[in-house]
Order: sequence, then structure tokens, then C-alpha cells
Amino acid sequence: VAIPRLHLFELEDQPWFPSVIRDLATDYLCFMESKFLFHRAMVEPLAEALRITKVEQIIDLASGGGGPAKGLQKELRERLIDIRFILTDRFPNEGAFQRTTEGSAGQIVAEMEPIDARAVPPHLTGCRTLFNAFHHFKPEDAVAVLGDAVRAGQPIAVFEVSDRSLRNILPMILLTPIIILIATPFIRPLRWNRLLWTYLVPLVPITCWWDGIVSQLRAYTTDELRAMGEIAGAGSYTWNAARVPLGKTPGYLTYLIGVPNVTS
Ligand SMILES: C[S@@+](CC[C@H](N)C(=O)[O-])C[C@H]1O[C@@H](n2cnc3c(N)ncnc32)[C@H](O)[C@@H]1O
Repeated sequence: VAIPRLHLFELEDQPWFPSVIRDLATDYLCFMESKFLFHRAMVEPLAEALRITKVEQIIDLASGGGGPAKGLQKELRERLIDIRFILTDRFPNEGAFQRTTEGSAGQIVAEMEPIDARAVPPHLTGCRTLFNAFHHFKPEDAVAVLGDAVRAGQPIAVFEVSDRSLRNILPMILLTPIIILIATPFIRPLRWNRLLWTYLVPLVPITCWWDGIVSQLRAYTTDELRAMGEIAGAGSYTWNAARVPLGKTPGYLTYLIGVPNVTS
């Protein structure tokens, strides 16, 4: 069923939104991504872009609770690709960034200053990635994110689990609050405020429920992604957009990868 794209507001995008709830919500998302090994479907397309471009680090934009950096780094290493990750976000989740970088021997580091994906500072060079975050951007902002990478001559890879399909939207409406209530005791670190804002005052389930539904309605199709890439790249980049099965889940991963054309 073709569902028109709707760009409703997401709570976690609002600058006034309490960072404690935003951070607990992005922690939950990160937990689910790692439990269901979402990163596995991303490894091959990302590895191919890294091999082509020979970059040595990834600038992860909109990293939220840390995203799939740890899992991806391990899988890439098994494919003999040693890559350093720099985590960034417009609203950095400092606790999650610290936990993700710990024990990585400097191979995952975090930028604690706010970084807007539409205007990345020039000292952050490397392949830019956005994991489950591209739907946050309206088409004009999404083109700005891609265009900023193009102006800087850096590759960019966008991965989305959100999907504008009833297959995703219906379970999101019916199951998200229940899943959060069940999953919360397993999310580490188990803090009193996670229990408070989940069970006593259920702002985390409400946020994840609303933002989860809105995320599916905001998702871009491969054709839309490719078209935005062509606008941003103006012929100087090669874009590859595809939709692949998401591991053992019934869902799909959608991605767009842009690499600069080699000029001789
Ligand atoms: C769904 S969450 C994070 C997803 C995370 N990459 C993951 O895989 O778990 C989306 C993130 O986008 C961030 N964000 C929203 N607008 C942004 C912008 N203009 N620039 C950078 N980050 C932004 C939010 O702060 C939030 O952490």
C-alpha cells in the first residue's frame, strides 16, 4: 500500500523537549537495534563504500544513544576494514556517548559539542553516516545534509529501518508501549530515572510510541532518496539506493550511499 509521506513533529526533535526523556528514548532505540542486530544488514553496503573511498574514519551524524557503531566496527574489522568512529549529534546524549566510547581504545570517540548534520564542521572528515535518523529531515533539509557532504567531498551513507508501510506502522501503533515496558529492565545502566519515566510517569513509552509512528510516516522510499542524492550531487557523485531484508525480522532496511565520482 502506497502511503503518502507525512512530516508530523517528533517530540525528540523539539529543542524544548527534556533531554532526560530524549536520552532515555534514544537509549531504548539503541538497545532494540543491538538486540535485533540491525547493523548486520548495513555491513556489506557500508564496507563497499569504505573500500571504494579508502577513508579512515566515519563521522556518524545524529548518533543518538550511540547507534550501531560498536557492532558495525566489529563486523567491519572481521572484513579487514579498520575504521574509527566519531559520534556526533545536535543534542548529544553524553552518558550514552561515554558508554559507547569506553573500552574502544580511542577507536570510537565522541564530539560533545552539538553538531548539526546540515552543516558539519570541516575538521570532521571521513565517511558520514546517518543510522535511523534521515527521516528526521524534511526533503529540503535532507538535501542540505547530502549537499553538505558533497561540498566537503566526503562520502555519505544513510540507513533507515523506518518504512512507510502498514507492515511497520501497525505493529508500531499496537506493540511499542508493551515492548518498552517489557524491555526496560534489560536496558543498561538500569537507573532509577529510567524506571520512573517508564513505569510511574510513562513519558518514555509515550515518546517512543509517538516518535516511532511518526518515523515510519516520515520515511523516504529508495526513489525519493535517489532523487534527493541527484539534486545534492549535481552529477559529481554516484548514488546507490536499495531496500534489503532486515536480518531475521519481517522488516526492511533502506539505504542511500553517495560517493564522489573519481576524476582523472
Ligand atoms: C532516532 S535518533 C538516533 C538514531 C541513532 N543514530 C541510532 O541509530 O540509534 C535521531 C537523532 O537525530 C538527532 N538529530 C535531530 N536533528 C538533528 C540535526 N539537525 N543534526 C544532527 N542530529 C540531529 C536527534 O538528537 C536524535 O538523537
